[in-house]
Amino acid sequence: MARILVTGATGQVGRRFVPRLARWAGADAVRVLVRDAARAEALARLGVELVEGDLRDADVRARALVGADSVVNVAAAFRGVPDAEAFQVNRDAAVELARQALTAGVTRFVQTSTNLVYAGGLGRPAQEDDELAPGPQLGAYAASKAQAELAMRELDPALGLTVVRPAFVYGEGDSHLRDAVQRAATWPAHKRLPVVHHADVSLALWRALSTPHAAGRAYNVMGDAPISAFELHQRHGVPQPADAVGRVDGDPWQGVVSTARIRAELGWRPLFPSVWTARDAGAL
Ligand SMILES: NC(=O)c1ccc[n+]([C@@H]2O[C@H](COP(=O)([O-])OP(=O)(O)OC[C@H]3O[C@@H](n4cnc5c(N)ncnc54)[C@H](OP(=O)(O)O)[C@@H]3O)[C@@H](O)[C@H]2O)c1
Repeated sequence: MARILVTGATGQVGRRFVPRLARWAGADAVRVLVRDAARAEALARLGVELVEGDLRDADVRARALVGADSVVNVAAAFRGVPDAEAFQVNRDAAVELARQALTAGVTRFVQTSTNLVYAGGLGRPAQEDDELAPGPQLGAYAASKAQAELAMRELDPALGLTVVRPAFVYGEGDSHLRDAVQRAATWPAHKRLPVVHHADVSLALWRALSTPHAAGRAYNVMGDAPISAFELHQRHGVPQPADAVGRVDGDPWQGVVSTARIRAELGWRPLFPSVWTARDAGAL
């Protein structure tokens, strides 16, 4: 009987995490919640169990949780969805999933959050115990993720809540870095985007799931070297706007997080410390 439930399994992070989890924990230990089973054939071929449905549906959540002792909540709505949907999925449904998980007897709940939950203007890398207060410029996504974390903290500690806060995720065929070039068009040339490779996110989720003393803790996950706007343009062969060099970066530490805790407590290290390491390894 599958005992680990993973949501968001057909997304960018989930579809790369689940095959690894199936190797680490055994495919028959894994159940995935997907919205469309037709898009989960590759996952089904691994031998994991599929449950189809929307995370916002209480009956779907209950079905997905039968017999589970652990949950990795990867699902999120943030790519071009209305704000209301972001709050429904990222906060309301996620918190309800955690509540129902407690009732179902789950003792480890890994919540995939984001490095964008922190208040800006810290003047240093954000640490896990810093205030969760994302600025309004980060929109419904960051707000919904921060509010979900705050609500989950109030639940019974028996849930074994572990929060993982990845930076901008890239690698393994994900077009995310390429997509960031458009955003970087308005940035100063030296503005840095904190990034983390998919392999390193998978490893962090696994350590969060499988390390007993990770219960009740939050962990930042980021590679060692953010990529600059200049490098993003250069890498993708896109000319940088002429005025990018003179622009001012209002918050040079935006999104930069300390990884001291996950290194010390979970023994995590980035396999791909920088985009350049990943490129050299053929892992982009
Ligand atoms: N990618 C990043 O740079 C990044 C950075 C920091 C944190 N994160 C976090 O990592 C997690 C995964 O991100 P991602 O990049 O993989 O995002 P993604 O590609 O958009 O995947 C999101 C997943 O959530 C599922 N989902 C959305 N709404 C749902 C609903 N109502 N019911 C059930 N499932 C639903 C999607 O289902 P479909 O496959 O059917 O669309 C998809 O599988 C998220 O929690 C995100 O906040 C990502």
